[in-house]
Amino acid sequence: MADTNFESLFARLRRFPDVEAANLQAWDATDKLLLDTALESHAAGLLQPGGRLAVVGDRYGALTLGALTLGASAVRVHQDLVTGERALRANAQRLVNAKALAIDAGFEQLPLGAALLEGASLVLLQLPRSLAELEEIADAVARYAAPDVVLLAGGRVKHMSLGMNAVLARYFNDVQPQLARQKSRLLLARRPKPVPATPPFPVTEFNEELGLTVCARGAVFAGTALDIGTRFLLEFLPHMPHAARAVDLGCGTGILAAMYARNNPAARVTATDRSAAAVVSALATAQANGLAGRIDVLQDDAMSTLPEGSAELILLNPPFHLEAAVHAGAGIKLFEAAGRVLAPGGELWTVFNSHLHYRSALERLIGPTREVGRNPKFTVTASTRRPRTGPASR
Ligand SMILES: C[S@@+](CC[C@H](N)C(=O)[O-])C[C@H]1O[C@@H](n2cnc3c(N)ncnc32)[C@H](O)[C@@H]1O
Repeated sequence: MADTNFESLFARLRRFPDVEAANLQAWDATDKLLLDTALESHAAGLLQPGGRLAVVGDRYGALTLGALTLGASAVRVHQDLVTGERALRANAQRLVNAKALAIDAGFEQLPLGAALLEGASLVLLQLPRSLAELEEIADAVARYAAPDVVLLAGGRVKHMSLGMNAVLARYFNDVQPQLARQKSRLLLARRPKPVPATPPFPVTEFNEELGLTVCARGAVFAGTALDIGTRFLLEFLPHMPHAARAVDLGCGTGILAAMYARNNPAARVTATDRSAAAVVSALATAQANGLAGRIDVLQDDAMSTLPEGSAELILLNPPFHLEAAVHAGAGIKLFEAAGRVLAPGGELWTVFNSHLHYRSALERLIGPTREVGRNPKFTVTASTRRPRTGPASR
């Protein structure tokens, strides 16, 4: 009989390859509330053969694997982060090895769009942090799912706002907040409204300050805006080395990649991010500015597929938050990756909130680090990759 407590399932889930720490876990009470509600009230959508269930925003696989253990078949799932996609596959394998999941209990990982949602009668959604991302998801569900679709959107109460109800109400005739449980709450949306012919994303905006057209999908960091840390890092663009191979690590909309490529006509730039929305946005930004021939995009976790020593310059405005928590681990992971991918003598230029004291980690993971700028909020540093003398050099 299916375990409807999910305890043994959730206890086996890991966040890997995402950052792991004692205060970060692979599931939350919202996952459980979504699964319980789906089973109690919408079992038809959940258990129907033929894959009428779609999952959006599954962090590490709790929703997809929970639905499969309840007996759902052929779950279609979209996760924006490649770390989440890889974690779901690793967690599924772990459950199969432990004989907690049938080997043929299938799920399909798909981009946000028609293939994910066509014919879906139940959509389980972990609410995103940004309203823009929610808007893109709500539009996709209203556009592609079955007319009788029920969207169950859940989140932690402290991260939910009335703005979320308003976004859903633009795409559904019926939006009902549900009772909260264990500090999580669901919004139930149904009866989709007709959608305009053109989806609302990507959005495109000309940034006067940079003289650059910036393109953004809903889930990308900062939308089309220029982040203030990025703005400060760009002040030092004229002082950066002229590299043949440069990387914009954690590229978001690809502003750093585009500005560097424009200022360094001989450079080839890789814009890479773990977010699908980010790399799609960065590609669109490159195209909109006539730079597509010199900027490649790559969805990857911390450049895991780029060879060691393959870049002379890496530009990085590192993430500050991991979900709700302020956590230095995400930045440190990217410094470590930069140490691997930089050629000896190559440089990492990064910007961070001065109170983060990243300097010693940069010295340890890359090499000699100098401060090139500081304002009341941010520090910009340049770190030079020390020569490789063997495994101990890192
Ligand atoms: C502060 S934002 C900077 C975005 C962009 N470079 C800019 O300046 O506007 C940090 C970016 O790092 C990305 N990121 C976080 N962890 C990552 C990882 N492990 N691998 C690749 N990208 C990551 C996030 O998705 C986010 O787009």
